[in-house]
Amino acid sequence: MSGDKLTVRGVNKIYSRDRDQIVLALEDASLSIQEGEFVSLIGPSGCGKSTLLDLVAGLTTPDSGEILLAGQSIVGQRGKVSYMPQSDVLFPWCTVVDNVIIPLRLQRVPLAEARAEARALLPTFGLEKFATSYPYMLSGGMKQRAAFLRTYLCKKDVMLLDEPFGKLDALTRMQMQGWLLDIWQRFKHSVLFVTHDVDEAILLSDRIFLMSSSPGRILVEMKIPLPRPRHPRMVTEKTFIELKRELMDWLETGVFGIAER
Ligand SMILES: Nc1ncnc2c1ncn2[C@@H]1O[C@H](COP(=O)(O)OP(=O)(O)O)[C@@H](O)[C@H]1O
Ligand SMILES: [Mg+2]
Repeated sequence: MSGDKLTVRGVNKIYSRDRDQIVLALEDASLSIQEGEFVSLIGPSGCGKSTLLDLVAGLTTPDSGEILLAGQSIVGQRGKVSYMPQSDVLFPWCTVVDNVIIPLRLQRVPLAEARAEARALLPTFGLEKFATSYPYMLSGGMKQRAAFLRTYLCKKDVMLLDEPFGKLDALTRMQMQGWLLDIWQRFKHSVLFVTHDVDEAILLSDRIFLMSSSPGRILVEMKIPLPRPRHPRMVTEKTFIELKRELMDWLETGVFGIAER
């Protein structure tokens, strides 16, 4: 029996597109996350990253394989982990506070209590001045922080984040990475983070799983032995660049099939 917080073992997922066309979205996918560990999944578009997160969140079920939370199967069970899906959208007709309290309201926390709890957290999430703003009034980074606060209020030890910074410009993205590192350092969730950004994966993670597509497979696991706390500046350091070179070698040969020179 392993001491993993989350275990995905030998998971296969097949989608059928038409009557006779099937997609092997995941083939024999296995990974694990330890308590308080930050793990990233990196891979090209369409390699099955979101599929894997949907499976862990219980939104879909695998065709075979196991998904365990602290040793117990959570296959097909929703509400066991906090999930920020790739297309997480704030309701345009709700204020920031009313958007982020949705998980609390689903747990039947009374409205006034839920709002008070969310308001108390707004400064940590850099949203203290925007409690009663509507989503259209927020910048891209603020929207993502609000979506993240909503995920945080699901209050599960394991957090799944699907390309949370994918749509942000490079500078906002860097700022958000620094912010996420601070938050994670403070709350120490076990995180499964999806990205297709090499720098982001290395900067944030304890371990990275690299995926290839058609079928979606986990090719390799890479440990990131950089010290913590980390800072976005570290991308210029020698050890960081060496790790990046190693990951890019794997990408070129394993994912894009470019022969080694
Ligand atoms: N509901 C679905 N029905 C059919 N095919 C799907 C569905 N969801 C995803 N796929 C296919 O499965 C593969 C993996 O998709 P996805 O997990 O979204 O990839 P990623 O998040 O890595 O970009 C893709 O080929 C995609 O077209
Ligand atoms: Mg995706």
